[in-house]
Amino acid sequence: DWTMGAFRAEMIEKIRAQVGSGRVVCGLSGGVDSSVAAVLIHEAIGDQLTCIYVDHGLMRAGESEQVVSTFRDRFNIKLIHRDASDLFLGQLSGVTDPEQKRKIIGRLFIEVFEEEQNKLGGADFLAQGTLYPDVIESVSATGGPSVTIKSHHNVGGLPEGMRMKLVEPLRELFKDEVRALGRELAIPEAIVGRHPFPGPGLAIRIPGEVTREKADLLRKVDSIYLEEIRTAGLYDAIWQAFAVLLPVRTVGVMGDGRTYDQACALRAVTSTDGMTADVYPFSMEFLSRVANRIVNEVRGINRVTYDITSKPPGTIEWE
Ligand code: XMP
Repeated sequence: DWTMGAFRAEMIEKIRAQVGSGRVVCGLSGGVDSSVAAVLIHEAIGDQLTCIYVDHGLMRAGESEQVVSTFRDRFNIKLIHRDASDLFLGQLSGVTDPEQKRKIIGRLFIEVFEEEQNKLGGADFLAQGTLYPDVIESVSATGGPSVTIKSHHNVGGLPEGMRMKLVEPLRELFKDEVRALGRELAIPEAIVGRHPFPGPGLAIRIPGEVTREKADLLRKVDSIYLEEIRTAGLYDAIWQAFAVLLPVRTVGVMGDGRTYDQACALRAVTSTDGMTADVYPFSMEFLSRVANRIVNEVRGINRVTYDITSKPPGTIEWE
């Protein structure tokens, strides 16, 4: 008779047995996996756990505040929120190559994480929200394919160079089971049901150079799009939806005047595992409503396109 309640109790015992009186650090991303891992571990060992949230400044609107308030205020988890946006944006300045951007972000992330961990005086264990599919993937990767499409940076799958013992309570679970466990742990639906979000954040949704101004602009577009998706009751039917800021300016007309502003693309896909994906078939009415709002409400954007490419041959993210 296997239930999430029983799994929860069993995992808590296992974590206590493994960790003893040791200290654990956990990298939080705001995503489902690291959130569920953190809350479960906290339930097992309380203040022996410290979470580190490295904020690269490339999150969606309001997300960092939400992570901090959820974990600190609601769950009373010790949380270090390091705003490293100046560092990340500084190092990304002038960089346009997608792989280069990913590598810089991945490297800085580990550096900042280690710095914060050292300030704590170190720890005995590193907690990760590794899932069963991640375990399978890394096993099969040894004999696996020779082409790297994108070098993934994943906040949960942290530092290979870090020689620490791992606490990985979600290793036996699939994504839907992690969500069920998250609900069992009373983690807010806004986190448990959240679409996947890439470790490098908005940097890979801004083709070309990333700047704070562009990230701010993209956040505005993105939040209008997601607000409309939620209002229409479509959020849970979609695997991922997001906006992309295009590195191109086009001519438009507003009122009596000519505009020469940036274009953006909207993306929404259905998928079961992110490996393949289909475009989400919004109604033209819905798309028009979103486009009107974006152009009217976001200064600097005068054109909206909808990306209808499936994966393959496209990827879900643009970089
Ligand atoms: P692509 O763009 O390769 O994305 O079709 C497949 C899925 O992976 C996510 N993604 C990432 N997730 N770190 C992550 O944690 C990354 O570096 C990364 N790059 C892509 C993407 O959002 C989609 O869900």
